[in-house]
Amino acid sequence: MTNRTILRMGDSLLYRTSQSVEKFDTKALHRLIQDMQETMDTNNGIGLAAPQIGVNLRLLTFGLDDYTHTNRSDEIPKTVLINPVITPVSNEKNEDWEACISLPGMTGLVSRYTHVHYKGFDQIGNVIDRKVSYYHARVVQHEVDHLDGILYLMRIKDMRNFGFVEEIVDMLKTSTPVVENPS
Ligand code: NI
Repeated sequence: MTNRTILRMGDSLLYRTSQSVEKFDTKALHRLIQDMQETMDTNNGIGLAAPQIGVNLRLLTFGLDDYTHTNRSDEIPKTVLINPVITPVSNEKNEDWEACISLPGMTGLVSRYTHVHYKGFDQIGNVIDRKVSYYHARVVQHEVDHLDGILYLMRIKDMRNFGFVEEIVDMLKTSTPVVENPS
């Protein structure tokens, strides 16, 4: 397993539309997923999209095996999600603070669908089909956005709700950044 370099905002590879994975259960795919999970763990991430390591594929890893070292009570199972299709279950949205390992040290308030249905495949090709809400739904929407070249700050309505985590801490009293940062 290799800890890969995370691309940061400004790198043009983050703004591409990624391509579908065509072949499942291949050595190359398994190796890539191992690298992504290693990279996520090294960066204390809760989610990672392949474009963030410069790979132009519709492939996400998110969730953790063990949440005992985080203060989060809402746990997302460790998941590999390939070629995801995400659909809002209703028009209901909520706002929360997000962070992204491609924008280290920054956070912003983003509106997302509260309840979503997502489908896709794991690395073997098994179907994944889940209806999820709130935190889990937010993480998946954030990660799927990466596959379409969208970073969370592009979705912030009022840029006063974007800044350095250390500076914005007063506004964060009721929350902590929730995406790609488990603490
Ligand atoms: Ni991100």
